[in-house]
Amino acid sequence: MPRKVTVTEVGPRDGFQIERDFIPTDTKIGLINQLVDAGVPIIEFSSFVSPRAVPQLVDAAEVLAGLDRSKGTKFAALVPNPKGAERAAAAGVDEIRVFLSASETHNQKNVNRSVEESLAGFEEVMRVANDAGIPVEGAIATAFGCPFEGEVPVEQVGVIARRFRDLGMRGVGLGDTTGMATPPLVVERCRHLREHVPELPIALHFHNTRGIGLVNVMAGLAEGIEIYEASFAGLGGCPFAAGATGNICTEDLVYMLHEMGIETGIDLDQLCAAARHVEEVLGRSLPGQVMKAGPRLRRHRADEVETATG
Ligand code: COA
Ligand code: ZN
Repeated sequence: MPRKVTVTEVGPRDGFQIERDFIPTDTKIGLINQLVDAGVPIIEFSSFVSPRAVPQLVDAAEVLAGLDRSKGTKFAALVPNPKGAERAAAAGVDEIRVFLSASETHNQKNVNRSVEESLAGFEEVMRVANDAGIPVEGAIATAFGCPFEGEVPVEQVGVIARRFRDLGMRGVGLGDTTGMATPPLVVERCRHLREHVPELPIALHFHNTRGIGLVNVMAGLAEGIEIYEASFAGLGGCPFAAGATGNICTEDLVYMLHEMGIETGIDLDQLCAAARHVEEVLGRSLPGQVMKAGPRLRRHRADEVETATG
């Protein structure tokens, strides 16, 4: 097992993108800066996608302009095409993440083009990013199964990862868009990539749609994977995938890792405060559990609870 892992916060992108009511730009900035204060090393703060497709993230550049860049947190953004790369470079992101899906149907639904067309566009994205000196990573959605097509062959994931490597990308993320990953699939996919594309570090991005997100993290840890993506309060979901729900929750993940003696550099109390704040902003209860229960050694006063008498 790794002794230290990188936890990437994706809530401001994966989470906010499905919120119907526009979250004011200043509110987004305040929440993300709270995550910075908690010591989160990398934050996917928004996407440079079509504002018609995802109106919530129309303010990506304005959000970045308000973020605290004094503490060394890296700010990454999702980009689907060259136009997105130009906008991201102009805004001054630290890292670009291109994305496509391993399955044709989801790629079509999500970015209105074939997988091959997405990959062709990434060549131009790389040119833009290289000119601006911005590192690029590639994210593969539906990497563990597709809500429209079902099983996604591991070879398809491997073929895309090789193309990422050949294009000069720095890492590959496996996205479990609708929570179809299981521990054996995690082991199979990580081993396949390590065998065929050993140059690319792997990031795992699980959704907790079927309740086994952290179990999948355990499978990843046992395989030695060192990068995990999660959303504070358990926000998240893709608007262009049927039945998508929240990511694994960042505080719950950090809590588990710390209890296992694995370092993240994140302050759990401050992270929980940010999670409670986003609950307040959205005005509804969110799935995160540790922000509600507190750490395991949180003690309650005995007189808070009635004594059971017969
Ligand atoms: N940022 C802003 N605007 C963009 C854009 C980008 N990255 N890419 C395209 N556009 C604009 C074009 O300028 C054009 O605008 P116009 O009609 O005013 O001239 C319009 O969008 C259509 O462009 P086109 O290239 O034909 O795109 P499309 O309609 O085929 O849509 C995507 C393709 C990729 C832009 C769109 O599907 C998208 O943004 N998807 C993202 C979905 C997402 O974020 N999912 C969740 C993450 S997993
Ligand atoms: Zn996701």
